[in-house]
Amino acid sequence: MPTLVAYSSMHGATQEIAERIATTLGEAGEEADARSVEVVDDLTSYDAFVVGSAVYSRHWQNEASEFVRRNRAVLASRPVWLFSSGPLGTEATDAVGQDLTVAAEPMEIAEFRRTFGPQDHRVFFGALDPGRLGFAERLVRMWPAFRPVLPEGDFRDWAQIEAWARDIGHHLAELRAGPR
Ligand SMILES: Cc1cc2nc3c(=O)[nH]c(=O)nc-3n(C[C@H](O)[C@H](O)[C@H](O)COP(=O)(O)O)c2cc1C
Repeated sequence: MPTLVAYSSMHGATQEIAERIATTLGEAGEEADARSVEVVDDLTSYDAFVVGSAVYSRHWQNEASEFVRRNRAVLASRPVWLFSSGPLGTEATDAVGQDLTVAAEPMEIAEFRRTFGPQDHRVFFGALDPGRLGFAERLVRMWPAFRPVLPEGDFRDWAQIEAWARDIGHHLAELRAGPR
């Protein structure tokens, strides 16, 4: 059965990460579908899951969190990997020197670790195109405190994203092969 790469994306950056993960899994010999959490309702035709969301104000998008909570029982019974598309810029650490991919962990991830035990959660750098932002987001970006952490640009590390997807592919192949 295929793997579902379910995503929630406000402006497209997270969708493209999900699509790249599905393509990379496909190249590794694992059938995978990338689909928005808003259009998937039946999870029974999938035997593994990758679920990802854009991060806004330190939270996953509501649709993604609701998808996970609604499907907690199924997710607890299959292998699941989570990712978040968040930090922007070229600095690897925040103002106090903490690794940004750790510091930027969204609030929901601790709950998800407790409730269904994902294999892994990764924070990937994201992308921000000011032309795609709504009025409220433009206002937030004008606030002096946010200006340094919300720079314009595409900071996604495709090599890192593909490497993670290949690791998932190896893991799935091992699970399929069963205990030796
Ligand atoms: C108003 C605003 C708030 C944001 N808040 C966060 C945040 O709290 N943490 C974070 O890591 N990234 C934050 N980001 C960056 C986005 O998560 C990043 O741009 C992401 O890749 C967007 O994905 P999308 O295009 O799929 O919506 C914010 C971006 C904007 C415009």
